[in-house]
Amino acid sequence: MKRVDDFRLTLGERELVPIMIGGMGVDISTAQLALEGARLGGIGHISDAMVPAVSDRRFRTHFVKEKAKLFKHNAANPDKSKIQFDLGRLAEATQNHVGRTMEAKRGDGLIFINCMEKLTMNAPKETLRVRLRSALDAGIDGITLSAGLHLGSFALMEDHPRFRDAKLGIIVSSLRALQLFLRKSGRTHRLPDYVVVEGPLAGGHLGFGMDWASYDLRTITDEILRYLQAEKLAIPIIPAGGIFTGSDAALFLETGAAAVQVATRFTVTNECGLPEDVKQEYFKSAEEDIEVNLISPTGYPMRMLKSSPTIGAGIRPNCEAYGYLLDGSGNCAYITAYNREVAAHPGAKKVSVKDKTCLCTAMRNFDCWTCGHNAYRLKDTSRRLADGSYALLTAEHVFRDYQFSTEGRIALPG
Ligand SMILES: Cc1cc2nc3c(=O)[nH]c(=O)nc-3n(C[C@H](O)[C@H](O)[C@H](O)COP(=O)(O)O)c2cc1C
Repeated sequence: MKRVDDFRLTLGERELVPIMIGGMGVDISTAQLALEGARLGGIGHISDAMVPAVSDRRFRTHFVKEKAKLFKHNAANPDKSKIQFDLGRLAEATQNHVGRTMEAKRGDGLIFINCMEKLTMNAPKETLRVRLRSALDAGIDGITLSAGLHLGSFALMEDHPRFRDAKLGIIVSSLRALQLFLRKSGRTHRLPDYVVVEGPLAGGHLGFGMDWASYDLRTITDEILRYLQAEKLAIPIIPAGGIFTGSDAALFLETGAAAVQVATRFTVTNECGLPEDVKQEYFKSAEEDIEVNLISPTGYPMRMLKSSPTIGAGIRPNCEAYGYLLDGSGNCAYITAYNREVAAHPGAKKVSVKDKTCLCTAMRNFDCWTCGHNAYRLKDTSRRLADGSYALLTAEHVFRDYQFSTEGRIALPG
């Protein structure tokens, strides 16, 4: 049986180890994690979700405080439509995060940024344009467009000098979504350089409805591979979602995939941005501790541990400081749900909001423990220590295990 290392991903002139570490929003896939992916010859992702908050944490900038101060007067107002991002500051924050990461890059691999269209930021087009172009300005190797259809995103970068040299990819969960994208972006005469096909077992938001369990990654990937072959389109296909061992990955590579995108196994590495106690929650989880729910205000189902502190929390919306999920009219489903609960419980000091969550605050504080379906198997990837906790892994260990393992084996840390 072949192993992942028997294959290479060709992107333009580059030959890469066909392992892509997926973007994990709000600094769960840190620069350190992405840098390890690149150093080892694969592809690592940073994320541009809430990048001003990430810049503040990494570089002691004050973007969040500054914005919160500017809109402080609005905190008690349910109408958030006046809260806007300063596009210059957004560009600066992106350039900090991307630029400093790229300066630190070593090795033959690449670093991409995961860019979610669903971060509508009360001015979807303008803010997305700034995010994409600033990442290109700061030298990012590639951009993975995710969480949304991104039908107009190529056009937002079309006149950027790096539009044809940077690697641009999309994440889709169906052939139909890919066809729509190709039709719409065909006008820019530029195909995506790669397509990540994300199945229903992935972490983060899912590109499926609550009937996600009736789909499977293998079927969708095969359908997309057949379509591209029939259309004579040579676009590398990268399946993602539930690929837990090197053998799972090698099987996809043997049957037409160009690489795999993986994430959950890296959540318990030293380099991952989750706090240590949260990593232990991931290790300890059982299959029945994980659910797919609809509490994300984006409207997409999301997978997470049932013990995530954000489930049922009722904090006051924090849009003055954050506001990443405000739609083009300044609305967010959490604000509506929160106001409904406040109206239903007059005088209450605290409310609980069960159906939606303040995702910006939750992600910023690592209170939404999103994970892939296979998170409950993480305990099989490490050793238990005398105090009952699990040993954290290095990103290198996990990467190499994907690269070299065979026969479904998982290498334990030494
Ligand atoms: C903790 C976590 C956070 C994630 N956040 C994002 C994100 O911000 N954007 C995105 O496109 N995908 C996100 N994902 C999905 C991954 O990038 C990846 O495609 C998927 O989880 C791969 O499946 P696996 O986790 O089973 O390996 C996230 C996954 C995890 C586990």
